[in-house]
Amino acid sequence: MIERSAQGVRVPALGFGTSRMVGDECRNGVEHALALGYRHIDTAQGYGNEREVGEGLARSGVPRDEVWLTTKLKPEWFGAADAAVKTEASLQALGVDYVDLLLLHWPNENVPLEETFAALKPLVDHGRVRHLGVSNFTPTMTRAARSLAPVLVNQVEYHPYLHQRFLLDVMHDLDMLLTAYCPLAQGEVVSDPVIMEIADAHGKTPAQVALRWLLQQPRVTAIPKAASAKHREANLGALDFNLREDEMVALFDLESERRLVNPTFAPTWERT
Ligand SMILES: NC(=O)c1ccc[n+]([C@@H]2O[C@H](COP(=O)([O-])OP(=O)(O)OC[C@H]3O[C@@H](n4cnc5c(N)ncnc54)[C@H](OP(=O)(O)O)[C@@H]3O)[C@@H](O)[C@H]2O)c1
Repeated sequence: MIERSAQGVRVPALGFGTSRMVGDECRNGVEHALALGYRHIDTAQGYGNEREVGEGLARSGVPRDEVWLTTKLKPEWFGAADAAVKTEASLQALGVDYVDLLLLHWPNENVPLEETFAALKPLVDHGRVRHLGVSNFTPTMTRAARSLAPVLVNQVEYHPYLHQRFLLDVMHDLDMLLTAYCPLAQGEVVSDPVIMEIADAHGKTPAQVALRWLLQQPRVTAIPKAASAKHREANLGALDFNLREDEMVALFDLESERRLVNPTFAPTWERT
């Protein structure tokens, strides 16, 4: 498995995203992903599937310390009274002693970051949360968070249709990793003529090329979701080939402002 590292921490570059997967689909999906060789699983309190993710992990028989497990704290729980309690509830639901990464799922301007990090510090000190991170933070917000705590990751939407140049500069400056969510643009990449042509040249699929483009960038990890066993297996095929520089550029050139996840509570995105 390819890894990315920051702050001396190594993270498997290709993870398995679990949003919109619940019940047996999630339980069996996580177990199958781990059997296939995935070693990075992404969940969130907001997905309502932490219990099933934990059951899939337990059933897989893969030792806990061989899996990078990420969950996310809901913004409504960022206050001092809730942050630690709700994180403990996640650990209980997942059936684990610790998570590798706890992300603040979306910015919440109503709670100072200092308060949230202070509330989570005992969990970090006791090894219940190995690393802290953020998600959907703008470059400015990321710098603010990193000035307060050793946040390792910012998880954001990233695919060929939405560039993250400014955030990637921040990741470099602050020694952090960017985890790409919606790395397949929720399936849109599979019918892109430019990506299809590059895929044909390598005997690969467009999804594998889109993932490869992300994984060939420094500081980037990706977490495609695949409810289908066939897709789960296929996505691992992103790990065993290389795109040429001109092919990387061809994918960068697809850039537009195609943001797929933009709820009303999203921050004002910085595009300059
Ligand atoms: N932090 C956040 O706010 C946030 C927001 C959104 C997502 N996420 C995380 O990122 C993960 C991925 O994002 P996403 O699920 O929205 O989008 P995505 O991974 O870009 O796309 C998933 C879609 O692509 C399909 N697919 C997967 N592999 C494929 C392949 N090899 N060929 C063709 N189609 C394929 C899946 O189909 P099947 O499922 O039918 O296999 C599904 O419909 C989520 O599961 C979640 O863990 C985080």
